[in-house]
Amino acid sequence: MLILAFESSCDETAVAVVKDGRTVLSDAILSQVDVHAIYGGVVPEIASRKHVEAIAALTDRALAEAGVTRDGIDAVAVTYGPGLIGALLVAVNFAKSAALALGKPLIPVHHLRGHIAANYLAFPELEPPFLALCISGGNSMIVDVAGYTDMTILGATRDDAAGECFDKIARVLGLPYPGGKPLEDLSQGGDPEKYALPRAKAAGNDLDMSFSGLKTAAVNLVHNARQKGEALDLPSLAASVTAAVSDELVPRAMEAAKRTGRKILVAAGGVAANRTIRGDLERACRENGITLYLPPLRLCGDNGAMIGSQAYYEYLAGVRADSSLNAFANLEI
Ligand code: KG4
Repeated sequence: MLILAFESSCDETAVAVVKDGRTVLSDAILSQVDVHAIYGGVVPEIASRKHVEAIAALTDRALAEAGVTRDGIDAVAVTYGPGLIGALLVAVNFAKSAALALGKPLIPVHHLRGHIAANYLAFPELEPPFLALCISGGNSMIVDVAGYTDMTILGATRDDAAGECFDKIARVLGLPYPGGKPLEDLSQGGDPEKYALPRAKAAGNDLDMSFSGLKTAAVNLVHNARQKGEALDLPSLAASVTAAVSDELVPRAMEAAKRTGRKILVAAGGVAANRTIRGDLERACRENGITLYLPPLRLCGDNGAMIGSQAYYEYLAGVRADSSLNAFANLEI
């Protein structure tokens, strides 16, 4: 079954053709990062306009690279949330039109379900049940994936996402947007214990996380040092921030595995590209007898292929949308 999948929830326009949920025939992506970098973050209005400009040409490219014609497509899939509402609406409307014009079913896909499904593309043997640690620019959560379309959130951030925390701290340090990767590069050789940064404890569900206290503490530390004219050890600050983010994520993922009895953990989302967090997860999973799946870096960020993968399983579960499909800035997984 060939699915033509669209993704435009943030600052990447992406169109892919995926076969049977597991094989990527094409994965065309146009990143807007350079456009938003001069503003230090994504400007929603500009994101929407850029999606509109790119989506038709990217669709032609995705079909050509897959070597299929429009008539060869069996279904159309699209991310319908969560994300920037104006940005989401571009692909939702385009996909609705495509499905209508081609006379094919339309499959709505949750963005984070897509991030989790990126692992199906990289690891043919991977099947639910497993736990997923979803860590992106907009979300941070631990999800119990009981089946391909049966998911429960075990813990989530109460405030900022892990990627947002990296991005905001990087911005104060004058690093380019998005700051996660530049901050990782800066952290190389730094001492992760040099700066004492807070670790959050959420009342109630102790699998919930929080990153806003860490973000504020790091930003204040930089401002105070600047006001006093003190030099900061920037690699060590970046390493200390990364260690604090990792401490927020890795022990909670292990605790979730212990409580649920799941023996497989998959990582998903842009922050899963971070080498320190990947290393910490590898170590913790080895110690706890958990099999870890880390998606290759190219599948960690937003892409259309992951949407095409999840769409296949949504289709098998009978999920369909019609031309009344809307986009949602917030959406339960
Ligand atoms: O999953 P993603 O591409 O988009 C969303 O759906 O949010 O994630 C983007 C986030 C950004 O916050 C970016 O700074 C972060 O992922 N990121 C990283 C790294 N690469 C990307 N964070 C830490 N280390 C990295 N190497």
